[in-house]
Amino acid sequence: MKIDRLPGFREFYPDECALRNHLFRTLRKVARNFSFQEYDAPVLEPLDLYIEKSGPEIVGQLFNFEDKGGRSVSLRPEMTPSLARMVGSQAGSMRRPIKWFSIGEQFRYERMQKGRLRSFYQFNADVLGEEGVGADAELVTLLIACLQGLGLNESHFHVRLSDRNLWYLFLESKRFTENQISGILGVVDKSERMSPEKLRAALCGIIDSSKVDSLLENICEIKALDELDKVRDYFSEFRDSEAIQKRLENWGSLFDSLEAMGVLPFISVDLSIVRGLAYYTGFVFEAFERSGKSRALAGGGRYDNLVGKLTPGSDMTATGFAIGDVTLVECLKTHELLPKYLDSQDLYVVIGGPQERLTGLGIVGAFRKLGFSVSYSLKDQNLKKQLKDASQRNARLAIIVGSDELDQGMVLIKDMVNRKEVKVSMENLVRSVDAFFTDGKL
Ligand code: HAM
Repeated sequence: MKIDRLPGFREFYPDECALRNHLFRTLRKVARNFSFQEYDAPVLEPLDLYIEKSGPEIVGQLFNFEDKGGRSVSLRPEMTPSLARMVGSQAGSMRRPIKWFSIGEQFRYERMQKGRLRSFYQFNADVLGEEGVGADAELVTLLIACLQGLGLNESHFHVRLSDRNLWYLFLESKRFTENQISGILGVVDKSERMSPEKLRAALCGIIDSSKVDSLLENICEIKALDELDKVRDYFSEFRDSEAIQKRLENWGSLFDSLEAMGVLPFISVDLSIVRGLAYYTGFVFEAFERSGKSRALAGGGRYDNLVGKLTPGSDMTATGFAIGDVTLVECLKTHELLPKYLDSQDLYVVIGGPQERLTGLGIVGAFRKLGFSVSYSLKDQNLKKQLKDASQRNARLAIIVGSDELDQGMVLIKDMVNRKEVKVSMENLVRSVDAFFTDGKL
């Protein structure tokens, strides 16, 4: 009986693994470049870690079950609650700000659609213990540098920036309750995918129907604010709200920092982004392809209350984001930004015949010890087949160990890209190969 893999789960054949390694290698390099440290957390967690913390959308998608010890557990749908618990439990002894990143598999039992699977990888980066906009600026800049590191530029993607805090202050000034505000923000989050009638009906379920029309008008106006100056103008009428005026100053500082870091051209102000996760409290952002057709490449924002909620007494402000691998790879493919040779190797030792095999194996072993990646044919094969194999495996150089050359104490080195060949003595072999990989010359 053939047993298929589960829907929404992927197998990674070597080419796909090589691509995944390329992504992870690049993202790790950029994170270290920004002096973030790597951490990891369990894949299986107590179900309670996600209930209420992640918000109804994710809770509905949990891959949860009861383990053999009768515990309610869940595969992790995201890293943030585990990170918040880890940091909270050692908050007192940690030097702040904490700048951590992680790369790991996440699981969500979602309805499958383009760009959405049930198992996917995320690169998470978070800054904890810094309440100022410096942390938000650092993260938005890191997100942009990660995507740039993979070859994407300002014509390919943008970061849509919004502010849950500004929404909150605005709705509070309209005298809505906490519960109503979170309900309204949930509706704003889905509003792009809703017809006007559905939107109205959803709001009627949350607030007094006499207030729906004016709120709908406000929501449309706020969603249309697409520049910092327009945000300032619109909210300047709330002059008596000190909190809103202070918030606008934060916007100004954030934009000044983003400009100084050279990433302003990637930023689009877009207050329709409020994020589905329940814990966000401040600036929130999502990266999208400019074409606007695909789902988000990444998302994140500030979540100042989660650490304290998970570890009472250890309050710590926090902000972060995650990039998902599925939409990212689709985007890199669309723009032809995947490297051609992901699984190449340095050397292929071509063995002339049975008499030369042991000498050939000696060469293989010697170069492997020196740290080169080396391949060769495990059985005797004619030269043509071995050279074809070398080229299919994307070897950079072939070392051909033939009987005529060996009689003179020589071997042939062949550049597999430009096909040039040179004969070198066995004594000079390592030096010649080294020189080739240093300055590209044979
Ligand atoms: P999120 O927006 O739920 O945020 O996920 C971030 C990214 O993960 C998405 O933009 C998308 O690329 C990818 N992703 C999410 N769900 C799926 C799926 N079913 N299939 C494929 N890719 C998916 C978070 O997870 C937050 N915890 C991010 C964060 C970190 N906030 C603060 N720190």
